[in-house]
Amino acid sequence: MSQPAPNTYSFVSGKNWKLSLAELTSFLDARGCTFEVQEISHSFFTVKTDSPIDASVIDELGGILKISETAAFVSTEQLAEAFIKENKQAKNQIKTNLPLDALADKMPSASSGKSVFGVSVYWADTPYSFNKAANTIQRFLGSSLKDELKAQGKKARFMGFPRGRGHPQLTAVEVLKKGLVEDSAEVLLCIGKHKTSIGTTVAVHNPFEFQKRDIEKPVQRKIFAIPPRVAKIMVNLTHCTAGKVFLDPFCGVGTILQEALLAKAKVIGIDFNRWCVEASRRNLEWIDREYSLENADFAVLQGDSRRLTSKIREEIDCIATEPDLGPALRQIPTTAYAIKHLANLKPLYSDFLSEAHEILRVDGFLAIVSPFVKTRSGKPVTMNLQETALKIGFKQVKPFQAVVFAQDSSAAPSLKDTASFVDVDEHHKIGREIHIFQKTK
Ligand SMILES: C[S@@+](CC[C@H](N)C(=O)[O-])C[C@H]1O[C@@H](n2cnc3c(N)ncnc32)[C@H](O)[C@@H]1O
Repeated sequence: MSQPAPNTYSFVSGKNWKLSLAELTSFLDARGCTFEVQEISHSFFTVKTDSPIDASVIDELGGILKISETAAFVSTEQLAEAFIKENKQAKNQIKTNLPLDALADKMPSASSGKSVFGVSVYWADTPYSFNKAANTIQRFLGSSLKDELKAQGKKARFMGFPRGRGHPQLTAVEVLKKGLVEDSAEVLLCIGKHKTSIGTTVAVHNPFEFQKRDIEKPVQRKIFAIPPRVAKIMVNLTHCTAGKVFLDPFCGVGTILQEALLAKAKVIGIDFNRWCVEASRRNLEWIDREYSLENADFAVLQGDSRRLTSKIREEIDCIATEPDLGPALRQIPTTAYAIKHLANLKPLYSDFLSEAHEILRVDGFLAIVSPFVKTRSGKPVTMNLQETALKIGFKQVKPFQAVVFAQDSSAAPSLKDTASFVDVDEHHKIGREIHIFQKTK
């Protein structure tokens, strides 16, 4: 067992882990936080930061489900020895090494009856396969903690899972409903390629808030609207922070604008559809009231975003947007049809990018969705936006290029080249490809 450096955290990611990692690193970077990514996996990242992370940041992130503060590291090799090779001595060694007393210390003494605690185990693809052992490890940790709690005179019930759950992980809703964060009563084990972090969950994502913003806003338009979680990720990819001037020039019903307003940006929306302008306005007024924002600053204008310069007089710090993705497709198209679909949209994107370059301040970021069209051949068709953007003078942002990964992070080299992110639902014919560009001069 080794002690972590102060401010070491594991972040459990949403389904699209690369997008979640890009959001997290952009978010930390935008706030001047220096950090090092120590472990990466499809389900979590362990990150050391130069200053403490406030638990409330979870509400400012769209792609992070849980945050735990690392109490100790165990070697993954030792864990494999104990639970995959089933070496009893290694298992006993782990039990004595685990910081069970420190984890149990944090949990409340149940003065009024029994309290509840839980354990969730996440794992990276390692040379050892933890798929089968994860359940055993979770139960081992649970019963070891229960023994420790008993020794401390605390009565607590170890929270089980509904039958048939594949992974030994409590959902965010379960953690929320049982108040496990308030009680420091969820222990998170994140098995990395080299190091395994064990800690207490300090924050959990609240899906009800995102759901509220999705389905309770006064004006909705289901088929075109971006999910609030993706909207928040887009806002964070632009390095948007409080006080920045933020624009969505294809704002629809204002889903992206809502998330930028919650980030305390000065928000401007544009849409050429008068109904959308009114819808966005009403939805922003609702966010202002519902979240009791102080000095919310927003405006929604009707206009054509191919001629932004005639509409926008001030310098814009950040743009996140999802322009027209084209008419809805009834069925998965042929490749030829998909190419035509995108060719029809290309002039809109090109004209908009030129105008965006004019109004964006130097160093400002643009996060933009382009269509990712599935085809019958199985090979998707996408728009070559980077070529257009580069010609206009934008720099393509590869979000992981400047990120410091611990030397032993073997996934880092391929990540460094990642330039766009695909977010596609299995039920939809068109998905989103998210690009990030920066104006450099
Ligand atoms: C895909 S929707 C955006 C949806 C939005 N993200 C939301 O969550 O509601 C694209 C929007 O762009 C608007 N639009 C299309 N062409 C435009 C143009 N040239 N200028 C301004 N708005 C335009 C459409 O009216 C539509 O509302």
